[in-house]
Amino acid sequence: MNKANVVLIGFAGTGKSTVGRALAERLNWQFTDTDHRIEERYGISIAEIFKLHGEPEFRSAESKAIDEALAERGQVVSTGGGAVLAERNRTRMREGGFVVALTASKRAIIERVSQDQSRPLVQGNVEEKVTALMESRKHAYDFADLKIDTSELSIEAIVDRIQAAL
Ligand code: S3P
Repeated sequence: MNKANVVLIGFAGTGKSTVGRALAERLNWQFTDTDHRIEERYGISIAEIFKLHGEPEFRSAESKAIDEALAERGQVVSTGGGAVLAERNRTRMREGGFVVALTASKRAIIERVSQDQSRPLVQGNVEEKVTALMESRKHAYDFADLKIDTSELSIEAIVDRIQAAL
């Protein structure tokens, strides 16, 4: 392992937090979820941050949370689906960790995201919103060191693959 951390990226609903937690346990590393870090800092949910402060402020808090997480070593860092949109975040991730992109079929993503009201960017017509967002982010996760389609794999199998690549 020549990188200090593992960074999980990918569209909402691809399993970053679940996989991250399991991977951290396997490696005996610490798990950090940047969304969770931001919620703790503000004391309110991501949806409320978007509503009260707007997306630009959320994005800047997200960049800060990524910097803080990657300043340490031995972290499995799970990031929000839009964290890769800023070039400075992509650079920071590549410098600070082994970057793993989790993907899933659109059907699987819509199914997972529909069960959860916490994502402000995919409320309302979930299918339409997910389709548009996936299209606009088609290549956003391409910079990863490793890509894994989670649609048909168990958490255990995904963790095995990441561990084998480290
Ligand atoms: C976002 C994804 C969310 C969260 C925020 C914005 C996005 O994280 O950071 O709602 O832009 O795709 P998840 O990918 O964990 O849902």
